[in-house]
Order: sequence, then C-alpha cells, then structure tokens
Amino acid sequence: MQIENIPLAAVLGSPISHSKSPILYSYWFKKYSIRGHYIPIDVDPSNLNQILRVMPKMGFVGANITIPHKETVLTIADQITDRAAVIGAANTLSFTKAGKIFADNTDGEGFIENLRQHYPSWNPKEGPAIVLGAGGASRAVVSALLQNSTPEIWIANRTRARAEKMTADFGARLRVIDWYAVGNFISEASTLVNATSLGMIGKPKLQIDLKALSKKTLVSDLVYAPLETDLLLFAKNKGCRTVNGIGMLIHQAMPGFSRWFGTKPAIDHEIKNLLLA
Ligand code: ATR
Repeated sequence: MQIENIPLAAVLGSPISHSKSPILYSYWFKKYSIRGHYIPIDVDPSNLNQILRVMPKMGFVGANITIPHKETVLTIADQITDRAAVIGAANTLSFTKAGKIFADNTDGEGFIENLRQHYPSWNPKEGPAIVLGAGGASRAVVSALLQNSTPEIWIANRTRARAEKMTADFGARLRVIDWYAVGNFISEASTLVNATSLGMIGKPKLQIDLKALSKKTLVSDLVYAPLETDLLLFAKNKGCRTVNGIGMLIHQAMPGFSRWFGTKPAIDHEIKNLLLA
C-alpha cells in the first residue's frame, strides 16, 4: 500500500501559543476539503536556521514566521521578494523540493486587500496618508501604500529617529511629522492608519488630537483586540469609513494558503467569529 504524502505547513515563532494562524488553516482545510496539516512550532532563535533547512526534507511546503524571527529569516532565505527586503522582515516562506527557501512579506498586501474589500471605492492615490508608528507593521503598510501610488505618507512615531530611518529606507514620498503635531495634519489626510500597539487591550490609549478629522478620511486600525478601538469609534461617529484589524490578519494569511495548497480562500463571517472567540 502506498501512503499518500500530505503537504505540511507551519507557523514558527516563540512563544507560539497565541498564534491565530492554526485556526485559519484548519478552518480552510475543512471548508475546501483539502488534505493538509498546519502546526505551530515553538522555535528558539538559536535553532531557526537548522530547523528551516530540514523542514523541506520533512514534507513542509511552507511556513509562516512570527515574532521574534521575522527579521532573522531574511539572513537565512535563499531568495527574498523586493517587498520583504524593503520592509526588512518576512512572514511567509515557501520551500522548493530542492530545499530552497523563498521569503515574502504579505502584511502590506493583507492591509490593502482588507481595505479594498470593505470599501472597493477607496482610492489610495486620492491624497496623503498619515501612518502612526514606525515598527514592522508600519513598514509593511507604508510599503504597500507606496506600491499603490499614495502620493505622500506622513509618519508619526513616539521615537522620531525610527520614523526618520523610514524616510531614508522608503524615499521622498515619506515625511516625518511630530507625534504631538498629528492633530495639525489630520484634516488633510485621505487615509489614517494606526500601526502602533496603542489602544490594544492591556496597552495605553492612543491619545492624538482628532478634533479636525474629516468625514472624508478612511480610518484603519491594525489593532483587533478590541475590535472597535476608541479611534474607530470616534471616526465612525464623525461619519468616516472605518476598518478594524481582524481582516488584515486573515488577508495576510491567504497568499500562503493559496501558494501551498492551491486554493484561494474567501473571507466569510464565520472565520472572523472563530478568530475573535
Ligand atoms: P510591530 O512590528 O508590531 O509594528 P514594534 O516594532 O514593537 O511592533 O512597534 C510598535 C509601535 O508602537 C512602534 O511604533 C512604537 O513606538 P516606538 O517606536 O516609539 O517604540 C509604538 N508604541 C508602542 N507603545 C507606545 C506608546 N506607549 N506610546 C507611543 N507609541 C508606542
């Protein structure tokens, strides 16, 4: 009797128990009747290289990468997409049969696709975007907005030097604005994105001056716990289009699933509810 090889994929991080990716994958395997396994693996940084090298030989077709390995994997991968290189981190690895590792970053694509799904008429070219934060999430958002022809991006971050590093990395369409001066620019923003951890359960509140926010601005918060942050609530009451962070979490996982298992999953309410449960 021949035993069928069932494709394997994983999420690697440390700690890993908090990861929502296994919930997404097991839901999609079932929904699309796909034979596959997706497992969370807690990997110590000192073992990352060795483990990644052996995974293709074990039948793994790919892996998602999370904290604290998203930057380090770029030093291990054999090939890196331009977007992962400019962001400086990867979240999706694909393995060839010969054992080569191909690194990509789908966070920015997930961000844009999520906005487009909620508001198909949203036009990133329409005007400037304000992005709060200068960490990995912000870099992914900025890279995707630039790719989608946003004319100017104003970055505000508590640690100004980190934002300034981004202008050096991403170029002339970025401009640093002072964290405490965001309120002076807000009326002109077509898109406003919170890419900090502020407003998340257990973190301090996001305290920026929103008085001048225009109802024409699309406001997106990458935070998804709580689903409706104070920022989104304020924006909604102003009449703005608002987008919470749960959809980005799903959209950034979709390219890996379709690459590795050959089916592009669709977004539905059930998966959102499962993730929030
Ligand atoms: P990620 O990769 O998820 O973006 P990160 O690199 O830790 O995570 O970045 C978190 C972001 O939230 C940063 O922009 C951080 O600002 P600093 O660069 O000044 O650290 C921002 N952030 C976190 N706590 C904050 C706080 N209390 N006040 C203002 N910004 C905060």
